[in-house]
Amino acid sequence: MCGIVAYVGEQKAYPIIIKGLQRLEYRGYDSAGVALLENKSIEILKQAGKVSDLESYAANKNTNGHIGIGHTRWATHGVPNEINAHPHNSGDGKLAIIHNGIIENYDSLKKALQEKGHQFESDTDTEVLIHLIEDIKNHENCSLFEAVRLVLNEVIGAYAIVVIEKGTTDEFIAARKGSPLVIGVGEGEYFVASDASPIIEYTRNVVYLEDGEIARINKSEELDIKTISNVKKTPYIHELELSLDSIEKGGFSSFMLKEIFEQPKSIIDTLRGRINPTTKEITLGGILNYEQKIINADRIIIVACGTSWHAGLIGEYLFEDLSRISVEVEYASEFRYRNPIINKNDVVLAISQSGETADSLAALELAKEKGATLLGICNVVGSSIPRLTHAGSYTHAGPEIGVASTKAFTTQIIVLALMAIKMAHKKGTITISKYHEIITELELIPEKIEKILKKNDQIEKIAEKFKNATNFLYLGRGYNFPVALEGALKLKEISYIHAEGYPAAEMKHGPIALIDDNMPIVVIATKKGNYDKVVSNIQEVKARGGRLIAIVTEGDKTVKELADYCIEVPDSFDGLSPLLTNIPLQLLSYHIALMRGCNVDMPRNLAKSVTVE
Ligand code: F6R
Repeated sequence: MCGIVAYVGEQKAYPIIIKGLQRLEYRGYDSAGVALLENKSIEILKQAGKVSDLESYAANKNTNGHIGIGHTRWATHGVPNEINAHPHNSGDGKLAIIHNGIIENYDSLKKALQEKGHQFESDTDTEVLIHLIEDIKNHENCSLFEAVRLVLNEVIGAYAIVVIEKGTTDEFIAARKGSPLVIGVGEGEYFVASDASPIIEYTRNVVYLEDGEIARINKSEELDIKTISNVKKTPYIHELELSLDSIEKGGFSSFMLKEIFEQPKSIIDTLRGRINPTTKEITLGGILNYEQKIINADRIIIVACGTSWHAGLIGEYLFEDLSRISVEVEYASEFRYRNPIINKNDVVLAISQSGETADSLAALELAKEKGATLLGICNVVGSSIPRLTHAGSYTHAGPEIGVASTKAFTTQIIVLALMAIKMAHKKGTITISKYHEIITELELIPEKIEKILKKNDQIEKIAEKFKNATNFLYLGRGYNFPVALEGALKLKEISYIHAEGYPAAEMKHGPIALIDDNMPIVVIATKKGNYDKVVSNIQEVKARGGRLIAIVTEGDKTVKELADYCIEVPDSFDGLSPLLTNIPLQLLSYHIALMRGCNVDMPRNLAKSVTVE
């Protein structure tokens, strides 16, 4: 939610900031802006729309300056127009701020400032923040560093901010709580960004600012970091492993398509080093010391949102089926507010691509207070969830930039499968031969996905037939019920077609009323699992005239006679079949969205990293 970039050094700040904002656009794309500081003046340029709109607008404007801040917005307070776009000025125009997050008590702060005579131009909480900084700075007659620190003790909410001051061309102030912030450390220059992607081109040395920390970043000095309660901190420099290639489109027309096609490689990367080639023993280094805790846990409570929640459901089926450990899967946003029962002997596992999702983080905080063991499955190395949890495993999918999650989902299932199989083996709830059979199947998944990806043209042709539909129903059972949910989510978020996922057998308890000759129904009907039962459900649909697209196992004959269109996937162990059945559904959504003229990488109203509630 919102991307921020800042630069101070000897280079021209504007091109660095614009390029960085383009890399962060997945975090929000309602409006964009920059503030550049040259000599004694602050030049602010902002526009509604995407970063490219800002670039066109700024083409003939003054973009000089060796220090600057930039922002790409996902609107929370105030409509996405130019006035509400960041950066925002203080009342006297001497300060400018960019902000990612939400100031929850902004209303009362605003009223108090208005009583003192402050006037506001925008509807944003951010403008209140910069006026408050100005007010305290003038009142206390202190440095900007101190004024920001004092203000952050008064605000409630989440923030990652950078503040610049007129006349100070060698430093700015940055702070964070609840929203991510990375500082790139160069030679006589510093970079600040919401993630490392705008920074890797210039330096591999980064400092992750911790929650509640504030930094004075001066191009000629060491970083000066303290907590907002005024305790000095020593910065710890990490070396980035991210490669530049991994954040570019690499010849594909969109990040989403690239990421769909990258899945065999992402899975190989996620499996790498985790299955011994000779003994087939699974080692997940990150949870090694917690294996017994997981086995002895009363329950595993999985907390997640969106696509990651769907992966969690598959995890539940895997853990219960294979390792006989009881699992509950919770929407993090519901869990955190419903006074849940959490015991010391529970393991709370957060699944999150970004590792920054506000609700998932808050659910973990709650579980921490109750003394549960916290685990994480995340993709972004060094993000907040891995730093909060006791232990966990990364997915190694590589950066996922398309807003609709694809390779993160498949690699989350891989890690969950590794965990469940490992625990089952350790507990003895599956036989040795079953263990080896599943591992063999797991290792075959990347090449089976390659085979499915070759059906891209066939899937495109099917998409052509359904691109004008207004509703879709997705049906699946057992391990493939969560795939139906995920297929429907993918279609609605990128093509704006209403779609619902349902357990196939539940259809007759309501949704069957929707079926007529116009209703497309996507059904996952692979051979293992509840095949015969799904075939009966297909017959029920057919009898009511529904148009059927079926995902079937190679060689299937029965469903082929009933469905209008069939997409074959290779056979596999039932518990791993979601890794295969999900791929055609990703491609189907992708093609339908493209044919409807939608921007698949940046669907309307969405953002990749949901750092607000
Ligand atoms: C859907 C999608 C979202 C995310 C959700 C959780 O394609 O991407 O539903 O899955 O916002 O995000 P993470 O996994 O970063 O916690």
